[in-house]
Amino acid sequence: MNMKPIEARSGNYNLKNYEETYNDFNWEDVKKQFSWNETGKVNIAYEAIDRHADDPSMKDKVALHYSAPGREETLTFEDLKKKSNQFANVLDKYGINKGDRVFLFMPRSPEFYMSFLGILKKAAIAGPLFEAFMEQAVHDRLEDSEAKMLITTPDLLERVPQDKLPHLKQIVLVGDTTGFEGDQYIDFQKEMNEASESFDVEWVDLEDGMLLHYTSGSTGKPKGVYHVHNAMIQHYATGKWVLDLKEDDVYWCTADPGWVTGTSYGVFAPWLNGVTNVIRGGRFSPDDWYETIAKNNVTVWYSAPTAFRMLMSAGSEPVNKYDLSSLRHILSVGEPLNPEVIHWGMEVFDKRIHDTWWMTETGAMLICNYPCMDMKPGSMGRPIPGVEASIVDNEGNELPPRQMGNLAIKKGWPSMMRQIWKRPEKYESYFINGWYVSGDSAYMDEEGYFWFQGRLDDVINTSGERVGPFEVESKLIEHPAVGEAGVIGKPDPERGEIIKAFITLVDGYEESDELLEDIRQFVKKGLSAHAAPREIEIKDKIPKTRSGKIMRRLLKSWELGLPTGDTSTLEE
Ligand code: WT7
Repeated sequence: MNMKPIEARSGNYNLKNYEETYNDFNWEDVKKQFSWNETGKVNIAYEAIDRHADDPSMKDKVALHYSAPGREETLTFEDLKKKSNQFANVLDKYGINKGDRVFLFMPRSPEFYMSFLGILKKAAIAGPLFEAFMEQAVHDRLEDSEAKMLITTPDLLERVPQDKLPHLKQIVLVGDTTGFEGDQYIDFQKEMNEASESFDVEWVDLEDGMLLHYTSGSTGKPKGVYHVHNAMIQHYATGKWVLDLKEDDVYWCTADPGWVTGTSYGVFAPWLNGVTNVIRGGRFSPDDWYETIAKNNVTVWYSAPTAFRMLMSAGSEPVNKYDLSSLRHILSVGEPLNPEVIHWGMEVFDKRIHDTWWMTETGAMLICNYPCMDMKPGSMGRPIPGVEASIVDNEGNELPPRQMGNLAIKKGWPSMMRQIWKRPEKYESYFINGWYVSGDSAYMDEEGYFWFQGRLDDVINTSGERVGPFEVESKLIEHPAVGEAGVIGKPDPERGEIIKAFITLVDGYEESDELLEDIRQFVKKGLSAHAAPREIEIKDKIPKTRSGKIMRRLLKSWELGLPTGDTSTLEE
């Protein structure tokens, strides 16, 4: 493997000189770009959409280009302003107030974006849910957030246990509403048709809430990561420096808005920069993806290692069918980006794939490769201007270069989460000695490049999606045949990791392929397809500590054939 840095090509980049910008940087200069810097009146949806819609030279520019099998739609900034105003009026009519949680559970569609922006304009807090979630996953998130309203489709409503959600008062249905009777049901299309296209945006403070994204840790149920309007400063700046967005770009972020990449970089970064945003519905297929680039003349493309690996294994036949020459900048996030993938990208696109590192909790990119910077394949890059990153020990003391430790960020970047919903002690636990400790292990080299080594907790990263082992274990033991369960991530060349479950069987059940498949389906139907274990192995006992905690580390060592390390806390 060629490990030499890949040099930056010269170009007219928004960020021209990394060192100079980094050393001479002040977030105050970024704030000056926004109108609220003078008025003090803020709303992220206004800055993303209305500001452009009110500009005669921008209002007719395409903001959203949607395509899915059987549906194509184009909305200008002015269209999106009007549609989101209409939805904000619907929310107003049904008594949604500032700070209320309004959740969205639907496929990627123009209606998603209209509603999402409408929620923000009404100063409510949006909670987007991944459309593949099943009943338990939906329930846990709506219950914890005490969501008052849910926007969904008649099909997906089957997975919403309405009788177990006392706070959920209203359901907005996008689609055919025949047969839905009751005061709680609101017909999206009917209400939109009747609503006014003008709305007085509710101005809020920079520190007011806008978004809740649920994410998994190694223990407990998923937690609500709470973001505020202030995040726009960093969405805007990283859109400029890292995505290198310019006026004429056509940008495509492949992430679903149920995950943070799909909001920070599928909604905010492109629109705050006034750029045309391509949204694709439907499933992954190499042909459809390449066609999306070719047909829309995509110039900037933000995707994930799993997708690149799948495109790579699809070979040169599909890629050669399409004209991909519009592409000028490619980026990746979510999992380690293999050097092979970067070299493949150089071959087939003649472009570098730029890795970026961040998390749901950080709200926006923190460590990145920039177009103007030499790239070391395998490294996540260097911190963005205005952000201090380091490697610290467990007490929060900084470690020297090349020493592995906790990847940590100096507290206080603009898009940092402001709360874990209803769990202040959990929030505090992320911060040690002034550092936000990420849960990732990494080292920094002498030139300040960061190199990812792994997770320090038991969180699983399968195809870039974060899965908490506790959630899967809890579901597994609800199956009548399962006694105990321990769940780990097992390395996989395509998906990064797959979910492997170790279980014990309840007396009277015999191991069989049918039973294992039934258990797998049980998790899939309860949580979601991506949380269902691909492998299940039956054991006589699941190793636990004397205090009853499952020793996933030991399960992993067994699986990988590694030394088992310190087992002194193992129960008899
Ligand atoms: C975890 C965060 C917000 C991005 C989407 C995932 C892993 C993220 C990289 C990268 C290696 C990465 C980390 C991180 N991760 N980016 N470039 N290289 N690992 O957000 O679901 O909150 O997951 O994803 O382990 O902690 P998330």
